Amino acid sequence: MRVCVIGTGYVGLVTGACLAHIGHDVICVDNNEEKVKLMKSGQSPIFEPGLSEIMQSAIQTEKIHFTSDLAAGVAHGEILFIAVGTPPLPTGESDTRYVEAVARGIGANLNNGYKVIVNKSTVPIGSGDWVRMIVLDGIAERQKSLVAAGGVSEEKLPEFVAEFDVVSNPEFLREGSAVYDTFNPDRIVLGGNSQRAVALMQQLYAPIVERKYAADPSLPPVPILATDLSSAEMIKYAANAFLATKISFINEVANICDRVGADVTQVAKGIGLDSRIGNKFLQAGIGWGGSCFPKDVSALIHTADDYGYEAELLKAAVNVNERQRLIALEKLQQVLKILKGKTVGLLGLTFKPDTDDMRDAPALNLIEQLNRLGAKVKAYDPIVSQTGMRHGLSGVLVETDAERLADGCDALVLVTEWKQFSTLDYLKMAKLMAHPVIIDGRNFLDPEAMVRAGFQYVGVGR
Ligand code: UDX
Repeated sequence: MRVCVIGTGYVGLVTGACLAHIGHDVICVDNNEEKVKLMKSGQSPIFEPGLSEIMQSAIQTEKIHFTSDLAAGVAHGEILFIAVGTPPLPTGESDTRYVEAVARGIGANLNNGYKVIVNKSTVPIGSGDWVRMIVLDGIAERQKSLVAAGGVSEEKLPEFVAEFDVVSNPEFLREGSAVYDTFNPDRIVLGGNSQRAVALMQQLYAPIVERKYAADPSLPPVPILATDLSSAEMIKYAANAFLATKISFINEVANICDRVGADVTQVAKGIGLDSRIGNKFLQAGIGWGGSCFPKDVSALIHTADDYGYEAELLKAAVNVNERQRLIALEKLQQVLKILKGKTVGLLGLTFKPDTDDMRDAPALNLIEQLNRLGAKVKAYDPIVSQTGMRHGLSGVLVETDAERLADGCDALVLVTEWKQFSTLDYLKMAKLMAHPVIIDGRNFLDPEAMVRAGFQYVGVGR
């Protein structure tokens, strides 16, 4: 099928590359010329395992093309994905101006047959109908300019009415395993009231639904939930809000564990074995971050507010998370007492492993607070240490390896659970430190092994 993906951020580029990989003819549109040039050469602007490989093979087979020309993209696609960013405004609401600009642009260029316009961006509830309205505005503007240019008479205008439907198709992929998640989804959600549009979307995803690209092809087909627009939009928010709340829940339990001397990793195992609870997203630590959870939970609280409902549980999940981000600071103060004049080394900076994303990373709060209290902050991160310039970090000295980081530190804080951190030479690192203290902000390391290496080990709720 002919697909156009507008916006090549995380969601757009992964969607475009994966759809090309399963045989569709894809055009990815982005208004950033530099980025288009980079992608044309087979390079991914984001660090995501497996992504550049599938991009390169799709470029070779000519299944994927990149352009900054929206009109060309719209003309090509029978399915048009809107996958531009909806960053948070200071109020917590989503900034939907990019979605609006794209919807208007699609309307102004719709002219060759029936199209399905798919909302892939996480948009506020009710956006499906709003996108429809903006596309219609775009169509009307184009008609007006056709008449004004004298090319078409008023009577002929009905011939230029484009046929389209809007579908909401939320994305559930995780950064760091985005390609894997696209080929191995738990479900596909399709919101909209047009049978025709939903049928085309089912055809588009058929190879994925039939597990042709799955890690385990013997699994039953991927469930598809076809529902109305608002419910599909709500599913995305509710899923992220639930997962974020689940983490805040286990973090609260961890804080109680700390006080009564229980071990939260054991507690998580014990409750996770209850199939009603499940064992995922019960990893206590320094809180959730990234580009989705903080933004989506705030946006849902805001939507509730707009409709006269105070989302108390979600607000509590956010409050617990804000406090949790400073748990490492509290623990450092308990062990080192005065932080002024001390050197603290951070192991990891990104909001989670296998990504270069620093958006809303707990490390940022920690750096800010440590600086405020007069500590010197150093860090080593397997990705940021290579690409440091891009992140514009301030208040932190980024080291090139873990041993340089340890040298002279009064304490280390493990902020991101990068796999590499399980095999560092901690014995050597402890010897290089002024005080061999480690705060394990992710309960990632083996406490006994760390003590054997000479560290004073402090975990979260264990
Ligand atoms: C998330 C959702 O998982 C995904 O479905 C959605 O589409 C986008 O948001 P992502 O932000 O990539 O994906 O990361 P995820 O792996 O879900 O982790 C989110 C945050 O929660 C990270 O900061 C992570 O460190 C934290 N986390 C996760 C925990 O603290 N404990 C856990 O048990 C799991």
